[in-house]
Amino acid sequence: MRLFLDSGILEEIEEIQSYGILDGVTLNPSLVKKAVENIRKSGKAKINMADYIKKILNTVPGLPVSLEVIGLDEQQMIDEARRLYDLFNPVANNVYVKIPVNCAFGDKENDFDAVGAIKAAASEGIPINCTLIFTPEQALLAAKAGASFVSPFVGRIDDHIRKRAGITFKKEDYFPSEGITQGSTLLDDNGILSGIDLVRKIVKIFNRYGIGTKVLAASIRNTRQLRESALAGADIATAPYNVIKGLVCHLKTREGMEKFTGDVVQEYASLLRGD
Ligand code: E4P
Repeated sequence: MRLFLDSGILEEIEEIQSYGILDGVTLNPSLVKKAVENIRKSGKAKINMADYIKKILNTVPGLPVSLEVIGLDEQQMIDEARRLYDLFNPVANNVYVKIPVNCAFGDKENDFDAVGAIKAAASEGIPINCTLIFTPEQALLAAKAGASFVSPFVGRIDDHIRKRAGITFKKEDYFPSEGITQGSTLLDDNGILSGIDLVRKIVKIFNRYGIGTKVLAASIRNTRQLRESALAGADIATAPYNVIKGLVCHLKTREGMEKFTGDVVQEYASLLRGD
């Protein structure tokens, strides 16, 4: 499974990249806002958003970086996809344009505008990461329209199921992939038992019909969810910096290190260090 970093903070991207484990970066308007505001607040450097995005692209040449549109109708999204691609893809040839599967909210009823935009942009050769996926059928539509990646939002489905059931939780709390029961009722969101269940069902459908679109598990909140994304057959998972850093941890690894370090005798140390 490929591992993407869900962050716009350059230092985080550079660090994860330096370990040789990074396969791509995902951004959204909130992550770009946070990264740029952090720098501006720190007063360390004057930055311009376009130059900052170009820096990110140049930091990970050859690795996909997703940049999101903001349009609320089909033509706006097509125009923005072209603009993002024309402006940024020449930098390092690694831009994927993120388009939500459905841009309607509030009173708007333009439900299929985003699907149309995916179709148009993908047919022009712009690689699309279709985002905000919460059902397998949304993923199927996005794939049929030509998306290269579909991004099911694992953590946000879990949040939704818990919130509706009145369960209090912290964002990083583990949610069982097989779902949870309340009394004798198995909680679900229209047949989806958890974020990982959503990934599993999308993978199953894509495999069943030989669909080549890659499944990118997004909105990952803890290390176990990342493991379960891999077990569910996701092609890619994108996770924030703290989750990726946590992947290397285990109490017994730490204890083992203490024991081995405590048992090092001078003769063995000299052998290794040549002194
Ligand atoms: C990824 O593409 C999404 O932008 C991201 O994973 C959303 O994560 P969140 O639900 O933790 O905000």
